[in-house]
Amino acid sequence: PKILFMSHAGEEHSIEAKVGDSLMEAAVKNSIAGIDADCGGACACATCHVYIDSSYSALTGTPDDMEQSMLDFADEVQPTSRLSCQIPITEEMEGIVVRLPESQ
Ligand code: FES
Repeated sequence: PKILFMSHAGEEHSIEAKVGDSLMEAAVKNSIAGIDADCGGACACATCHVYIDSSYSALTGTPDDMEQSMLDFADEVQPTSRLSCQIPITEEMEGIVVRLPESQ
């Protein structure tokens, strides 16, 4: 599916992602700036923080307890904050918008 990453400054990067990858993996494979992913997807670093508008939460689900507690370590956490390594990409996510924080 096509995923649109939007930088904090409003730059848009549309990529073609693979079903089964996480949003973090899709971002890293496509050299999207702003996702550090220091722990490599183990839900242990919070440097893959993104914002997913609530209109997409039916597609992405909501953070589990482990993700929620790791989000405490992210900056500028909002109700729409997610860790992108914890969101597996599905076909239904075509056109989803993933917003990046100002910094990780
Ligand atoms: Fe470390 Fe997501 S990559 S928590």
